[in-house]
Amino acid sequence: MAETSGRNRNLGVCYYPEHWPRQMWAKDAALMAKTGLRLVRIGEFAWSRIEPEPGEFDWGWMDEAIETLGAAGLKVIVGTPTATPPRWMLGKHPDMLGVDAMGRARKFGSRRHYCFSHMGYRHECARIVQKLGERYGKSPHVAAWQTDNEYGCHDTVLSYSRSALRGFRDWLAHKYQSPEALNEAWGNVFWSMEYGASDEIDLPNMTVTKANPAHELDFWRYSSEQVVAFNRVQTDILRQFTGKPLIHNYMGRTVEFDHYAVGDDLDIASWDSYPLGFLEDRSERDDEWKQRFMRQGDPDFQAFHHDLYRRVGAGRWWVMEQQPGPVNWAPFNPAPLPGMVRLWTWEAFAHGAETVCYFRWRQAPFAQEQMHAGMLRPDSEAAPALGEAAQVARELAELPEIACGRADVALVFDYQSAWGWHILPQGESFDYFRLVFDFYRALRRLGLSIDIISPNDTNLGDYKLILMPGLMDLSDGLKTAMAAFGGTILAGPRTGSKTGAMQIPLPLPPDIPGLDCTVEHVESLRPGAEVPLADGGAFIHWAESLQTSSKPVELTGEAKPAIVEKNKTFYLAGWPDQKALTRILKNLCTQEKISTLDLPDHIRVRDSGPVRFFFNYGAKAASFEGIDLPPAGVHWHRL
Ligand code: GAL
Repeated sequence: MAETSGRNRNLGVCYYPEHWPRQMWAKDAALMAKTGLRLVRIGEFAWSRIEPEPGEFDWGWMDEAIETLGAAGLKVIVGTPTATPPRWMLGKHPDMLGVDAMGRARKFGSRRHYCFSHMGYRHECARIVQKLGERYGKSPHVAAWQTDNEYGCHDTVLSYSRSALRGFRDWLAHKYQSPEALNEAWGNVFWSMEYGASDEIDLPNMTVTKANPAHELDFWRYSSEQVVAFNRVQTDILRQFTGKPLIHNYMGRTVEFDHYAVGDDLDIASWDSYPLGFLEDRSERDDEWKQRFMRQGDPDFQAFHHDLYRRVGAGRWWVMEQQPGPVNWAPFNPAPLPGMVRLWTWEAFAHGAETVCYFRWRQAPFAQEQMHAGMLRPDSEAAPALGEAAQVARELAELPEIACGRADVALVFDYQSAWGWHILPQGESFDYFRLVFDFYRALRRLGLSIDIISPNDTNLGDYKLILMPGLMDLSDGLKTAMAAFGGTILAGPRTGSKTGAMQIPLPLPPDIPGLDCTVEHVESLRPGAEVPLADGGAFIHWAESLQTSSKPVELTGEAKPAIVEKNKTFYLAGWPDQKALTRILKNLCTQEKISTLDLPDHIRVRDSGPVRFFFNYGAKAASFEGIDLPPAGVHWHRL
């Protein structure tokens, strides 16, 4: 990626002109510009104001809002409003609602009340997107477009509706071509589940006990493809009217659809970063950790998603929504430590973000998110985030040239594995995101900068170390790339242990060319149980018994193989705790001459080309290698 200076990095904000009297808009726009914001996202929930009655459009307010923002020197990101169909839409399409796994329709009254498989609603979305494209596609004030809002939010990818059933049957008929082929792939001889025709197949919910995992996995695949198709309807239309970048705003710890596939139809990936909400809501760390970082967020969670979405956007990515103060939706909603909004923003830039937009401009005194902070209070006085954003805007002008070239270390992240292990965890604690994130945390503890890659990335050339924990199905393409790769690979646990049809492959896993080992059996471990390792630390959650005739690199406490290796390809026979993982990864780095650090929990480092950034996620002042960092401190210097 080309070197970029601070002048090419932008700040922005999410704004809802339809929430405020028109007299406020110009003043708002002037203050945004004065703060140093350049981009304003609007429109993504405004369908009922754009088309108050079916076929009757009111463009006046939106034209004026865009003109007002443009006149203040701001550029606009237009959001397509398809995450919030107006109430009249249900009159036209009563069966468009998503249906939960218990067969209950999810009612109108909040948002995302649609099923991705409903063709009538898809058609309505095409219609509104076409209108928006026609109206604003050539506007000089529009800099980019956002499709919908947070696909999958509020558990909306899987829907067990009649539309989904119809779509799934067609999808299966197309995929397998005959009931015999489907029966064979799914292993339907088991429990007499053989089908004679595709219209005999139901959705895999409300079964007496767990459904066939192959049936479930195909339904997850089908559902993910509906998200891709839904998004593509919008991108195909928008591209007829605009050459500006098309973006979607993804979320944290969300794996229900294949983000790489959606990203292929877009120009930039973005995500919505709520560090304090995520710590309370999506982190599995203990209470002590949550209390320690309650005002700062988990030191690795944001970085993981920055690196993931950099890949989803093929190098181009933004933070579309940055937490500005307390949110309203986590079990507890503390306020950020002073300085954290600035730190989160800088951390995104250090990982290569082009733009960071804050959510939202002014706190709304009404409706569902009235307790969610903004950059302004409901009375339009400044909230703390405003000053921190202004500070970043000033500092950006001084940012040296930074670049986000290839890291030495790559970590594979695969959505199908997340679905597969969700469907067949074989132990309550086997969660794919958790496994990959454990590896990521250990790498960050060692001060490393990391690329997250897709299993379809077979151009592995420049990496020195590639990790692929839990990668369920090793494709032939990836196996070939692995065989040609000159660096170090660490696979396992569970890598290569299922076929694409969710069966145990023969020869038995991991079946990595050249590697002399076979997984004899696996076991999942209850919380507190562990398999100690001879060199320290232990396997937790998961352990495998390996058959091998080569000399293991590491042993368990009972002298069984824990790691085996051939030609720099290593297989790990369990889920190491952080102590073991840090040691194992450090050894691999040493062998590959990748230099590491030994960072305390609260200090994190990121290299961006010639510049090294330091972040203090601690609530107290800290120093590391002679660098003093105040609480929430950020430091950068040339390497
Ligand atoms: C995001 C969403 C926004 C807003 C925000 C509140 O998930 O995209 O519309 O709801 O959360 O934190």
